[in-house]
Amino acid sequence: MLSDFARYPLTFGPTPIEKLSRLSDHLGGGVEVFAKREDCNSGLALGGNKLRKLEYIVPDAIASGADTLVSIGGVQSNHTRLVAAVAAKIGMKCHLIQEAWVPHEDAVYDRVGNIMLSRIMGAQVNLVDDGFDIGIRESWLNALEAVRAAGGVPYAIPAGASVHKFGGLGYAAFADEVRAQERDLGFAFDYIVTCTVTGSTHGGMIAGFAADGRQRRVIGVDASFTPGRTRAQVLDIAGKTSALIGGPAIVEDDVVIVEDYAYPAYGVPSPETLEAIRLAARLEGMVTDPVYEGKSMQGLIDLAGKGYFPAGSRILYVHLGGAPALNGYSYTFRNG
Ligand SMILES: Cc1ncc(COP(=O)(O)O)c(C=O)c1O
Repeated sequence: MLSDFARYPLTFGPTPIEKLSRLSDHLGGGVEVFAKREDCNSGLALGGNKLRKLEYIVPDAIASGADTLVSIGGVQSNHTRLVAAVAAKIGMKCHLIQEAWVPHEDAVYDRVGNIMLSRIMGAQVNLVDDGFDIGIRESWLNALEAVRAAGGVPYAIPAGASVHKFGGLGYAAFADEVRAQERDLGFAFDYIVTCTVTGSTHGGMIAGFAADGRQRRVIGVDASFTPGRTRAQVLDIAGKTSALIGGPAIVEDDVVIVEDYAYPAYGVPSPETLEAIRLAARLEGMVTDPVYEGKSMQGLIDLAGKGYFPAGSRILYVHLGGAPALNGYSYTFRNG
């Protein structure tokens, strides 16, 4: 059971669900789109999905006797920004590996947005010239060793807090939160749309929504552009998380991923992604980013246009955060 696991509160509580009426109308009125605002979930460093995951990881980190959180991501990783925030909040040091996951074009890419916030929060930030990979990286293992060599006690948090024994619990609990909100709303969502990359957001949701048989209604929009790796990681995390909370076995068909929107590469927005970002911003004042949420927004818009969702469907778009990375794309948006 989820309640068997310690949780260290890092978020404000249940995140709001708001109707995106103008976006729904723009899509022709056949479906109703709602947003669950995980991007507004905390006062810690602008918030985002990683905090739900870290709530279940921090008790283990504290119990381990560690004094330094060690994690990894791309240069504009939201995850590492939030690990830096959590380290500050719980009084630990933070050592971050920031790899060159994105072939970027902005001159200030490694000075602004997420990485700037991590530096302000006191994290030790190391830039490493390796490309995109959601797996366990040598640079990260080396960082753990470096902390030990300096007499510290590291606590290892993998990319996206995903391949961690408790990485999926936060988004399994998310399903319980949605069910409670559905009771208040008086209806249940027909589909849940989420961005997926390192896998524990989607994997946790699959484990959580399996409790009422809705795991195949969670549509993961791939933003990794290595969807085979993401799919395998989601399946693995969903199965392990479900086992942890005493849920059912998870099978391959429970993992629903659409692969069509991550092009041309991880972190590089297509013209269609940019249009989706502008559309959500101009219709709803809702800011999405070129790496993650812009791609899931593009997927939602395109799938709705293609009739993927039957008429009358209520769709919950889960906004996972990520807006700080926009600062690294100032040239792309120089004309709006
Ligand atoms: C804003 C944002 N959206 C979506 C994701 C994807 O979540 P996950 O890595 O758990 O698949 C991430 C992190 O990778 C993120 O920072």
